[in-house]
Amino acid sequence: MPTRIFFNEVVTRDGFQNEPAFVETADKVALIDELSQCGFAKIEVTAFVSPKAIPMLRDAEEVMGRITRRAAVQYTALVPNVRGAERALEARADELNLVMSVSQTHNLANLRMTREKSFAAIKEVVTQVNGQVPINVSLSTAFGCPMQGQIELNEVMDWARRFADLGVRGLTLCDTTGMANPRQVRLFSDAVVSSLGRLELTMHFHNTRGMGLANVLAAVESGITSFDGSLGGLGGCPYAPGASGNICTEDTIHMLQTMGLETGVDLERLIHLARALPGLVGHPTPGQLAQAGRACDLHPVPEHVKAMLTH
Ligand code: COA
Ligand code: ZN
Repeated sequence: MPTRIFFNEVVTRDGFQNEPAFVETADKVALIDELSQCGFAKIEVTAFVSPKAIPMLRDAEEVMGRITRRAAVQYTALVPNVRGAERALEARADELNLVMSVSQTHNLANLRMTREKSFAAIKEVVTQVNGQVPINVSLSTAFGCPMQGQIELNEVMDWARRFADLGVRGLTLCDTTGMANPRQVRLFSDAVVSSLGRLELTMHFHNTRGMGLANVLAAVESGITSFDGSLGGLGGCPYAPGASGNICTEDTIHMLQTMGLETGVDLERLIHLARALPGLVGHPTPGQLAQAGRACDLHPVPEHVKAMLTH
């Protein structure tokens, strides 16, 4: 089992893209600046997608331009096509996170193009970027598609290898609507680690059916050391029916830290931000740790029990 786990905080991208009300640019910037102080390896700031497709992230340039960057953090952004890559480079993203669905149906719904067209677009981006910044490819619906159903490991591996051959730095397998189970995660993780272990491999889980943390543990046991998570457990793809929040970052970090794994994240600071999040988005958030407190935050012993303990 690895001892150090790296986190990519995606609340201002995956989280806010699915919110019913626009989160003000100044609030996004303030939250990212706070998150930058928490010890994350990476923050997915925003998405350079069509503002018609995702109106909640229409302020991508402004957010990237206004955040205060810390050297220890990589500021990445989601990109669907060449136009998005040009915008992200102009905005000085540290990494481009290119996206494609393993499910043809979801790719057509989300990106309005076939997988082959997406692959060609990503290939063109890799050529144009020409090493200026590292590239990650996120494979959506890798563990199941809400419209098409099961996705075979062979199909995931075929796409993963095609992207690896383009020379990308990292690959993320995404469980877009929480269909993965721990046994499947173990199988898929073992496969990518053994044949593509030279790449930075990340898992992106949604907790739609309560299997998120079990899936994280299964992946860690396979040797996966990078995860996407969302503050408060916000998130979801607006073009995936039934989508709901990502695994909650603070709940996941708490689990890993109580198991003795190092994450580099200041959990107390993060809980503070998680508790402020419902005020920002205007509704309760699904994360549990912000309500329960850490397992080490003990409650006072009642007076009558104290008396009994001393006798
Ligand atoms: N950034 C900004 N605008 C973009 C853009 C980008 N990366 N790519 C395309 N556009 C604009 C075009 O200029 C055009 O604008 P116009 O209508 O004012 O002329 C419009 O979007 C449509 O362009 P087109 O090339 O026909 O794209 P499309 O309608 O087939 O949509 C995508 C394709 C990929 C741009 C769009 O589906 C998208 O942005 N999807 C992202 C979905 C997403 O983020 N999902 C959640 C995360 S997985
Ligand atoms: Zn997601």
